[in-house]
Amino acid sequence: VLTQEEQKKMVGEKALEFVRDGMAIGLGTGSTARYFIEGLGRMVQEGFCCTTIATSVASENLAESYGIPKTTFTETPQLDLVVDGADEIDTEFTLIKGGGGALLREKIVASISKHMVVIADSSKYVPVLGSFPLPIEIVQYGWEASFAAIQQLSCIPILRQREGKPYLTDNGNFIVDAKFSAIHDPQTLESALRHIPGVVECGLFIGFADTVILGSPDGPKVLSSNRK
Ligand code: 5RP
Repeated sequence: VLTQEEQKKMVGEKALEFVRDGMAIGLGTGSTARYFIEGLGRMVQEGFCCTTIATSVASENLAESYGIPKTTFTETPQLDLVVDGADEIDTEFTLIKGGGGALLREKIVASISKHMVVIADSSKYVPVLGSFPLPIEIVQYGWEASFAAIQQLSCIPILRQREGKPYLTDNGNFIVDAKFSAIHDPQTLESALRHIPGVVECGLFIGFADTVILGSPDGPKVLSSNRK
């Protein structure tokens, strides 16, 4: 039986099968995406060609340490592929992301990627979203007002903290983790959140994932969306 960490490594490395020479690739964030970036780094060191955009400062630094080439949104308006983790995945491939705080950059990168591959250990695959508190990025200014409006949506919100201070995203914003009993209608919830002044983005990713590589006790399983 594979541990959670072994599953993360296997799905991260399995995703390397989706890369092709010359591709522009989005690099996800988190402990699973790390395995993909490290694998890509080894390929680059052996002569593989690609350009990348990272979804966080942490992933950018990791990629840089392997000498993985970077590109910009100006140079590369569309990416061939993004490989990223998730906190929850439902049967429709709707995701909760942002446990690592990178949801805004992750959604921007996913939005310009032709193909999104999500990599996750088996614990992330759920029948209904919402056991994992939904990360919501809000601006610092008047955060109390945004927080109070989020609270009106039948959830228990918590302002994310790190070392006794509000957690700061790479964009200098705060994160609210909102616990819902269950998220049965992600689309409606996402649009309600988007209408709250000060909310920059939420961790619901609807219609982004094309392929999910899921860990299992006997190795990675590749699941494809029938949407595209
Ligand atoms: C970061 C994310 C991550 O992809 C998500 O939190 C999964 O992380 P991990 O692979 O460490 O479980 O959305 O914002």
